Amino acid sequence: MAGSKHEKIERSVGLMIVLTLLVVSVGGLVEIVPLFFQKSTTTPIPGVKPYEPLRLAGRDVYIREGCYNCHSQMIRPFRAETERYGHYSVAGEYVYDHPFQWGSKRTGPDLARVGGRYSDEWHRIHLNNPRDVVPESNMPAFPWLERPVVSSDIELKMKALRKVGVPYSDEEIAGAKQQLDGKTEMEAVIAYLQGLGTVLRDVK
Ligand code: HEC
Repeated sequence: MAGSKHEKIERSVGLMIVLTLLVVSVGGLVEIVPLFFQKSTTTPIPGVKPYEPLRLAGRDVYIREGCYNCHSQMIRPFRAETERYGHYSVAGEYVYDHPFQWGSKRTGPDLARVGGRYSDEWHRIHLNNPRDVVPESNMPAFPWLERPVVSSDIELKMKALRKVGVPYSDEEIAGAKQQLDGKTEMEAVIAYLQGLGTVLRDVK
């Protein structure tokens, strides 16, 4: 009888664990695996390009400084979010992000579409001391970013990204180091911020 079989499972913890894991894995695979192949998650939307060397270096500074601890980069499809930040985020915007910076902690505002919202000079002042432009801000200051950006590993980084599908050409990689010459970490982070979300920003 079906009832007694079920009773057997419920009374045997080991069997219950094995069968639960089986059900959860099948459920998970059915939901997750198709995303690896769906066009909407693997194809960049028109206009989204791989990060240029300066923006890529800035992105790494962003990660190193832990900006993601206070800033998400994902606008949810709710009116309160789209009114404030602009068009909600779509998967095709993140195809070249390894690792992505979505996050969910918002001590500060979401930054998914911050590109172009302020001038470079505003960002420089803000990162040097946020209170100079936003008096009530509790964001930490990052004055040490005014130092040369590390360029020695940029080619290796681009080659690594190419391995996971970012289409950098040999010429782009060869010319990368030169583009970082004389640049500061501050300039790199600002270049990164100014490119964020600009492709879909103005679409309503
Ligand atoms: C401890 C939390 C915290 C950390 C870490 C942090 N921020 Fe912020 N950030 C904030 C808060 C709070 C605000 C809102 C007040 C303000 O504008 O200063 C903000 C605002 C901003 C804004 C303006 C956004 C807008 O739409 O007005 C930018 C750009 C920004 N942060 C970039 C960064 C970058 C880049 C880093 C890392 C180098 C960083 N933040 C690290 C808390 C943080």
